[in-house]
Amino acid sequence: MITIIGAGRVGSQAAFDILKDHVDDVVLIDIAETLAKGEALDMMQSAPAIEFDGRIQGTSDYSQMQGSELVIVIAGQARRPDQTRIDLMNNNAKIVRSIVQEVAKHAPNAKIMIVTNPVDVMTYIARKTSGFPGNHVFGMGNILDTLRFRSYIAQELAVSRQDVNALVIGEHGDSMVPLVEYASVTGIPITTLLSKEQIDKVVQRTITSGADVIKLKGSTIYAPAAVITMMADAVIHNRKRVMSVSTCPSGEYGCSDYSIGVPVVLGKNGVERIIELKLSPESQQRFEKSITAIKTAVAALKD
Ligand code: NAI
Repeated sequence: MITIIGAGRVGSQAAFDILKDHVDDVVLIDIAETLAKGEALDMMQSAPAIEFDGRIQGTSDYSQMQGSELVIVIAGQARRPDQTRIDLMNNNAKIVRSIVQEVAKHAPNAKIMIVTNPVDVMTYIARKTSGFPGNHVFGMGNILDTLRFRSYIAQELAVSRQDVNALVIGEHGDSMVPLVEYASVTGIPITTLLSKEQIDKVVQRTITSGADVIKLKGSTIYAPAAVITMMADAVIHNRKRVMSVSTCPSGEYGCSDYSIGVPVVLGKNGVERIIELKLSPESQQRFEKSITAIKTAVAALKD
């Protein structure tokens, strides 16, 4: 069973995708009880057409998460066009702390996936507040950036998005690090297919892509929900997927005690291992800026 906390735009779409993809049953929790109940009822009524058997329950009762294997936290304020993810930080920190205390009480053996922004800082808070093993608490951010990077590389080359493989690490924010040196099209390095100007353009579009959607329609929904579903599937079905998630390294990438996006193997134990890569000098420099950005944000956290 998966519990999703936050039945807003992203939470309800993620619940629906998880059901449609037959990942697991879902409990959808929100402080707005009628919203959670209404979303659940609407989804349940679509089941005969979409042909899913998973159960969905909407509630504001946290004890209903008991027995969950995975709890996904998507509650909190979303970014307005004039806000950075860091602007959201202190309000969302209060919400995430209180929710994680409920998770520790009702589902102490669950893995926790944080989606609420700024995700690296919220994942750090969730780990500290829950006292759960480090591998059981991780955040969704860079895998979404990675899908965007892949999409823009494919668009620039006019090739199938499926054939593009790439990785983004670092902060899920302005200092993210799209790893040009590891991006390829069916194994062909993009550095042999695109000019430096084209690569710079693709990297820049990747970095601003979330904000671009927010400017146009107020929030991102489908891409985050799709990624949440991929990650949930990796955990529930022990897929051992290799993806970039926010986790707290133990010295890998020169980082410890902060949560930051790095490539990991994701399975039933959550973050099963971190894959350490040799970075180009440019990526290394950007990654260090990412660590500094997250450290600065954590230092600005209020109790
Ligand atoms: P939304 O405003 O549509 O939904 C948020 C929901 O959280 C609301 O229904 C609200 O009632 C609920 N909520 C607030 N406090 C709560 C509490 N203590 N317990 C239970 N529910 C509570 O927002 P949206 O667009 O769904 O975004 C949610 C969060 O996800 C935001 O922080 C946003 O920035 C983040 N996000 C993160 C992404 C990522 O890549 N990590 C991508 C997209 C959104």
